[in-house]
Amino acid sequence: MKKLIRNGQIVTAADTYVGDVLIENGVIAMIGASLQAEDAEIIDATGCYVFPGGVDPHTHLDMPFGGTVTRDDFESGTIAAAYGGTTTIIDFCLTAKGRPLSESVQTWHAKAAGKSAIDYGFHLMVSEINDDVLSELPQIIEQEGITSLKVFMAYKNVLQADDATLFKTLLAAKTHGALVMVHAENGDVIEHLTEVALAGGHTEPIYHALTRPAAAEGEATGRAAYLTELADSQLYVVHVTCAEAAWRIAEARKKGLNVFGETCPQYLVLDQSYLEKPDFEGAKYVWSPPLREKWNQDVLWDLLRNGQLQTIGSDQCSFDFKGQKELGLSDFTKIPNGGPMIEDRFAILYSEGVGKGRISIHQFVDIISTASAKLFGLFPKKGTIAIGSDADIVIFDPKSERVISAETHHMKVDYNAFEGMTVTGEPISVMIRGEFVIRDKQFVGKPGYGQYLRRARFEPLKRGAVNKS
Ligand code: URP
Ligand code: ZN
Ligand code: ZN
Repeated sequence: MKKLIRNGQIVTAADTYVGDVLIENGVIAMIGASLQAEDAEIIDATGCYVFPGGVDPHTHLDMPFGGTVTRDDFESGTIAAAYGGTTTIIDFCLTAKGRPLSESVQTWHAKAAGKSAIDYGFHLMVSEINDDVLSELPQIIEQEGITSLKVFMAYKNVLQADDATLFKTLLAAKTHGALVMVHAENGDVIEHLTEVALAGGHTEPIYHALTRPAAAEGEATGRAAYLTELADSQLYVVHVTCAEAAWRIAEARKKGLNVFGETCPQYLVLDQSYLEKPDFEGAKYVWSPPLREKWNQDVLWDLLRNGQLQTIGSDQCSFDFKGQKELGLSDFTKIPNGGPMIEDRFAILYSEGVGKGRISIHQFVDIISTASAKLFGLFPKKGTIAIGSDADIVIFDPKSERVISAETHHMKVDYNAFEGMTVTGEPISVMIRGEFVIRDKQFVGKPGYGQYLRRARFEPLKRGAVNKS
């Protein structure tokens, strides 16, 4: 059936105007003023923003990590995402050395199929580069449409890859049109600092932050940017937490390199002092890289505003406080790393960003949706409101206020990292491919509705000659 969204304030990364959106066969068929369609269901959006659905480029659902498995899977995680205004996620498919890449991809398909309530794609972790991996990669990129490859520079002896692997991945990505993503922290330095802390009897959650200093993130980010320059390739740095790392990205971009940066809501509003909460509550805030000193937040906002950081990912990786975070009661290194953010990413960026005058409403749409869709080969199917695009739409009441709480959230996890925070603005209804998944703040979608997205290759920008000045 056709749907006609009437009288909303339509907002894209470029424009805003009051208008109507006609949806037919799951896509946007017409945009205009006073549109008529007798056979359409009418949805009145007066007083609301009509945003493109959020694209979350960084989630970990149903992921084994830190000796346990994330609490939220593709069903609970994507339902929570939909409540929050996110209509597409890109999840990380982990690989193991010596195993075929295709096996990992099939494992991730099995986790998501029949469960995901929203559309989804995958990034692929690269843990080693050898002849088998090099022969499989083109097929994964072309046939599976997995056009982004993730390399971990940290988590020594678990996920960490060496510089040679990162460099060869950057070369392969350039050849085949993929974007390389890095978790940028110096894992070797962190391992040493961790050993020293434990030897000194320091087992509390705050030592997670103290053993992973900002300089270790800045160094790895700068190193990854140099390797990208050497390979003449393209790089996306995930979960940038601090000035030390964000400045390295800005420097690389000034040189004309195709280097991009993502931050996360937690780094914009929470700080290192949360890890000092008593009664082991600091463990709720243990993820990597860690929360930083508060002054870093202003730098991240500035660089989001001036376009040096492009996206915001949730880095959703949820573990219960009871039973899971508690694995590290007597040793901070045993606390599973990660937090529950998928549901509140959209609201926090809107409320703290647009609501507090830090970014414009167009920048909000770009950061929450459009930029990720473009970088990860989904645009213009996803990431905008335009004729022919999927009708992934958020009808958003900018005046509504709510207090974030684990009592009311829809993730399965037993705490919320933003507990007690008041946010202004709320998704009222959310559509994916023209079907309501959230209607009047109630989930009306179904697990399994989400479709797998084969993504286009990365198109590097010709940014001009490297500026050596
Ligand atoms: O602590 C985190 N961020 N957990 C998820 C894995 C990762 O490093 O992104
Ligand atoms: Zn990471
Ligand atoms: Zn992550």
